[in-house]
Amino acid sequence: MGGRILTAEKIEKAAVIGSGAMGHGITELLAMNGYEITMVDINDQILQKAKEKIAWSLGKFVEKRRIRQEDADTALARVATTTSYEQAGKDVDFAIEASPENMQLKRTVFAKLDQVTPPHAILASNTSTLSITEMGKATKRQDKVVGMHFFNPPQMMALVEVIKGDNTSQDTITTVVELAKKLGKTPIIVRKDVRGFIVNRILGVAFNEAFWAYQRKEATMQGIDSSVKYNGGFPMGWFELADFVGLDIAYEVGKILYEAYGERFKPCSEVIGPLMKDHKYGQKTGVGFYDWTKGRPRIPFNLLDEYDVDRSWAVAVNEAAWLISDDAANPEDIDTGMKLGTYWPQGPCEHADRTGLDVIISKLKELHSKYNMEMYKPCPLLEEYVSKGWTGKKAGRGFYK
Ligand code: NAI
Repeated sequence: MGGRILTAEKIEKAAVIGSGAMGHGITELLAMNGYEITMVDINDQILQKAKEKIAWSLGKFVEKRRIRQEDADTALARVATTTSYEQAGKDVDFAIEASPENMQLKRTVFAKLDQVTPPHAILASNTSTLSITEMGKATKRQDKVVGMHFFNPPQMMALVEVIKGDNTSQDTITTVVELAKKLGKTPIIVRKDVRGFIVNRILGVAFNEAFWAYQRKEATMQGIDSSVKYNGGFPMGWFELADFVGLDIAYEVGKILYEAYGERFKPCSEVIGPLMKDHKYGQKTGVGFYDWTKGRPRIPFNLLDEYDVDRSWAVAVNEAAWLISDDAANPEDIDTGMKLGTYWPQGPCEHADRTGLDVIISKLKELHSKYNMEMYKPCPLLEEYVSKGWTGKKAGRGFYK
């Protein structure tokens, strides 16, 4: 641990481990911003495919006149590929792994990176859910191990969650935040290594609320999605979004959230389970909740009153309050995360301040007395705010002043 402090300006060379959906996009983004990259994967065919995907995507940017042809050529020329960690890591300042979501594998990747990269290099993980602290422990530089969670596709999505592991230094966080900004992204800071970080945690509870409502036959799937989309102003309904993200991923994240937070995240296995068994994972397999074989599902407009979207908001605000009371995030970062990471029309904290925290609590209590589920139990922080009279905009203070 310790040693020279690396500032973002000093980062020139980088390695990206894993060249799949996320790895090739992160490589492209770094290359477009002037960094020399070596991309690592388990064989040359996979690397070749990844490089072709980068070339294709750069071509799209040229087509749309976002960059010039010569910039695309220069970016592509900055990307080298190898199956050797030693070759990739030998003189880098920064390495980020986007290998499959498996702790055992990630620990092996970090142990190797620790051996082959110079001592000053920062080592990041693009994990969606796993513990940064655990990955750090596979190295002798835990202070320089950090989460840098891009959203898919990383070339396009503006948000990056920067996650502090228990032993990550503040200098590392500062450097990675600056690096994200240099890549044109908006970083938000997850101050503690909490499962689901910010965006997946809040999204997870909104999914669960909808899945349970569907399971209890309070509304149809199309009815929930119609209400969320046309009444709530969200870009997709919860079922459509789960299909889009991938039901296998949503299921896995749901499991991890349940393990981490218990009954508050009780998953509705009856809804996703049968689809998982049939390998119907949503858009990527053609079928999930919806049939995607002929393109995006059409969500009927006329069902927009079937589901009360305030319920989605209530559980999302409640989870935001838990994040704040855990000291894992602040309201600004939570709101930015939900707006940039999933295109919510408002962040949960600003929504609560506009609606009234007292109104949100009433909704939670109504749902809790009806269904007796932990998900609806108001977070003590919300109760505390309301008891202090911090009910939101109307009182001059809520989550925000
Ligand atoms: P992917 O399956 O598309 O890519 C993983 C790549 O890692 C594959 O090319 C595979 O050959 C390679 N790989 C496997 N073992 C390796 C090893 N030992 N060394 C080097 N490369 C190895 O997976 P995807 O979707 O790109 O996910 C990667 C990471 O990014 C995961 O941690 C995931 O949770 C995270 N993530 C995924 C998002 C998504 O929407 N797909 C969004 C944000 C984060």
